[in-house]
Amino acid sequence: MSTIDTEFEHEQVELFCDAATGATGIVAIHSTALGPAMGGLRLAAYAGLTAATTDALRLSRAMTLKNAAAGLDLGGGKAVLLDDGGWADADARAARMRAVGAVIERLGGRFVTAEDVGTTPEDMTGIAEATRHVAGQPVERGGRGDPSPWTARTVAGAIAAAVRQQDGAETLAGVRIGVLGVGHVGRHVVALMREQGADVLVADLDTSRAQDVAERYGAEAAPVAGFLALEMDVLAPCALGETIHAEHIGDLRCRVIAGAANNPLAGPDTAHALAGAGILYVPDFLANCGGIIHVGAEVLGFDDAEVERRIGVAVDHTATVLEQAAVSGAVPLDVAVAEARARIAGARR
Ligand SMILES: NC(=O)c1ccc[n+]([C@@H]2O[C@H](COP(=O)([O-])OP(=O)(O)OC[C@H]3O[C@@H](n4cnc5c(N)ncnc54)[C@H](O)[C@@H]3O)[C@@H](O)[C@H]2O)c1
Repeated sequence: MSTIDTEFEHEQVELFCDAATGATGIVAIHSTALGPAMGGLRLAAYAGLTAATTDALRLSRAMTLKNAAAGLDLGGGKAVLLDDGGWADADARAARMRAVGAVIERLGGRFVTAEDVGTTPEDMTGIAEATRHVAGQPVERGGRGDPSPWTARTVAGAIAAAVRQQDGAETLAGVRIGVLGVGHVGRHVVALMREQGADVLVADLDTSRAQDVAERYGAEAAPVAGFLALEMDVLAPCALGETIHAEHIGDLRCRVIAGAANNPLAGPDTAHALAGAGILYVPDFLANCGGIIHVGAEVLGFDDAEVERRIGVAVDHTATVLEQAAVSGAVPLDVAVAEARARIAGARR
């Protein structure tokens, strides 16, 4: 039986359609056991409501695990918006964001959002016109802004810990790292890896973005097609979810997978199949927790020093989970899920 099979244990799922603006989306509150459910607001072109709902359910559940594992007194939630083309006009977008804010306000503080794929700190300002349950506004408006550089920090820490665990290497000098997706987080991961002397390969559906990042940081750009099968020590999935399916495993040349993407595996069984193939998979919610530590600070009242301290603790925690898994012969995903669930169960008691 897989360890994360409780997909529908959500506390509350709200589907909304604002008739005045056309804003349509879903807020999924997976758990408030540790505190208000916090998770980003994603805007994406979904195939339909079912696909959007499934994404919200999965992402909100992952936020519960992430916030618990990061030691934050926050539950897990996520909101998704359906991109119907009506978000392109700036005024229409601002009106829609206010409508989303009104939905969040009606939830009475059970859910707090911030930016995610497809949304920006400026969007959070629109939401803030209707609710105070939002974080990550631009710095000049008193928010903590884009969390991506902090997410990249815990991803970089996870990569270093996994390479150390797998190969005993104390530095990333000369380690070949493939970063798939060089958007907000991926580009910072590339920068941090290059600073540490790694050889970096990049690919992105937006080929000009991949080329720009490669030129800027001295990395090598490669096509997306066939990227997973290229020779590399570490694969860092930093695009969208469900990139790695069981049928890819035979083609993979890496020994470590650690990246920013939420839910990069097609399912939990893929983590077991990776382990069987000798590939160390760092659970996504451990590797990418830096961003929620950064924006969660607004809700939890942390100052910059406390954010820094917690980023360090999160990286050390990832290393500990990898060591515990190696000692016990368990898969790190199972260790991390069990630990996060124990913290949540303790809070419920
Ligand atoms: N931004 C954060 O702080 C944060 C925090 C935690 C997790 N994450 C996760 O990290 C991932 C990246 O987030 P982001 O903010 O950088 O998003 P982004 O949209 O800025 O960047 C994603 C990049 O991936 C590329 N891409 C999309 N599909 C692709 C594919 N199939 N193959 C190759 N490239 C593809 C896009 O062109 C884009 O450049 C997402 O899964 C997100 O949920 C982000």
